[in-house]
Amino acid sequence: MITAYLEQHKERFLAELFELLRIPSVSADSKFKGDIRQAAEFIREKLAAAGLDKAELCETAGNPVVYAEKIVDESLPTVLVYGHYDVQPADPYELWNTPPFEPTVINERIYARGACDDKGQFYMHIKALEAMLAGNDLPCNVKVMIEGEEEVGSDHLGTFVADNRDKLKADVILISDTSIIANDVPSIEAGLRGLSYVEVEVTGPNRDLHSGVYGGGVQNPVNVLCQMIASLHDEQGRITIPGFYDAVVELSAEERADLAKAPFDEEEYKRDLALKAVAGEEGYTTPERTSIRPTLDVNGIWGGYTGEGAKTVLPAKASAKISMRLVPNQEPDAITELFSKHFTTIAPPTVTVKVTPHHGGQPYVTPTDSLEFEAARLAFREAWGKDPIPTRGGGSIPIVALFEQELGVKSILMGFGLDIDALHSPNESYGLFNFYKGIETIPYFYKHYAQLKKATVEA
Ligand code: BES
Ligand code: MN
Ligand code: MN
Repeated sequence: MITAYLEQHKERFLAELFELLRIPSVSADSKFKGDIRQAAEFIREKLAAAGLDKAELCETAGNPVVYAEKIVDESLPTVLVYGHYDVQPADPYELWNTPPFEPTVINERIYARGACDDKGQFYMHIKALEAMLAGNDLPCNVKVMIEGEEEVGSDHLGTFVADNRDKLKADVILISDTSIIANDVPSIEAGLRGLSYVEVEVTGPNRDLHSGVYGGGVQNPVNVLCQMIASLHDEQGRITIPGFYDAVVELSAEERADLAKAPFDEEEYKRDLALKAVAGEEGYTTPERTSIRPTLDVNGIWGGYTGEGAKTVLPAKASAKISMRLVPNQEPDAITELFSKHFTTIAPPTVTVKVTPHHGGQPYVTPTDSLEFEAARLAFREAWGKDPIPTRGGGSIPIVALFEQELGVKSILMGFGLDIDALHSPNESYGLFNFYKGIETIPYFYKHYAQLKKATVEA
């Protein structure tokens, strides 16, 4: 019995996750290269120990991909599990209440970088598979692929997937790297936003100048950049880049009404973030603004003197990093192009503008009436005692659209996180309830998926 096995090995599952969380596998910073490899190796061992075959590290031009499989019977359908073992940098360290790489349980929550995103979540799959394999309860084939560059845009994964189409051949992809509405309101994200990320640099004079001697006569690149950025939204909170909304799929009144059924407490949202008021595109609710509508946000801006005290300087340069979250059917490359053109056009003749594109990712939607989605729905029903609400997520997992393009396979986003998990922030955490409930829910997905598939074959 799977449930008995889970109960019996609970403590060890958590201890193993803690070991993994202690490895600072930060992909953004090359000083953690050794830890990246150590994390990959740790996962490889655990996959083998769980009873999967061919557990290996696949080298790429970047960080290794961990792979393993269990082919029960060639004639059965195959589930491909995807996750990422890399984590976001933990800084600023001083804002953590406990050390980011020393997992600590406080009030039934695991505090550590990667606790939820995504170590705590993909590790549930390894343990669920271990339990299924231990009791001979795996009803279909499984392939597991855990990558190490998700947080930096999965740059080398596209090539890896394209080069390994046969190896990765599957009927459905199962991913736990998203969130549910609440622990008593399970949900499944049926969509993700895409991403276009650019860096801009505005250059004026050939060197930093005395702001008294030159101020007034030479245009200040920081002033210019701020004006340019401010002009990217209009009074209605809409993005002013010509053509930006052209490809956006507008939802029907019915689809919007459906999404509005998901409970959302705006007062609670404001309280949680200490907001005086919510803001965004006119005509849309907060859940809509953060899921089905595209956005443009400055992620960082710099230039001139930012050290202690005051230095009178008219800076020669100003820069910003800007992310645009995209929705179907916006194409990241096309949007980056529109941005570059517009940003260069609105620059005054006194400055030079350089736009450097960073990583991007396509938006994604999955139909909620598919067999795969139904299997996930039934899994939640059985483990949680209620049906999950389909939602649309605001985050991005670039590889999901790529899987569809390269492998022709749809993904099911069966994530178990919560908004309070503080992904990418100091004090990231993951509920013990979510970790264990996830492990319990996953085998039900396999059970229902295999049953539904079998029924279609027999029909
Ligand atoms: N797991 C997140 C994405 C996510 C979080 C989706 C919560 C839905 C709900 C993922 O690890 C992530 O952070 N993705 C990046 C994308 C990227 C290219 C760095 C993001 O969304 O910023
Ligand atoms: Mn993630
Ligand atoms: Mn992330």
